Amino acid sequence: MRTVPALKGYKTGKRNNPVMQGMASALSEQDMADIAAYYASQTGLKTLKK
Ligand code: HEM
Repeated sequence: MRTVPALKGYKTGKRNNPVMQGMASALSEQDMADIAAYYASQTGLKTLKK
């Protein structure tokens, strides 16, 4: 799962994007873990499943 490292990267400045920096700077580690878990729980469109 790459979401948490990506969000941390914006927060610390390792990833440099002004928009995502603003979003990520307000997030705690728990927030990031929660966001990642939420996205990971999504199943996607049924019509695209084999
Ligand atoms: C629910 C709110 C958001 C979450 C959880 C989120 C999460 C992320 C994550 C995880 C990435 C890294 C993607 C990757 O490297 O694979 C990313 C990149 C990016 N996001 Fe967001 N994002 C959010 C809202 C927004 C909004 C509102 C904007 C702009 C209006 C935005 C603009 C961008 C841009 C431009 C990038 C690419 C930046 C780069 O090249 O490093 N994001 N976002």
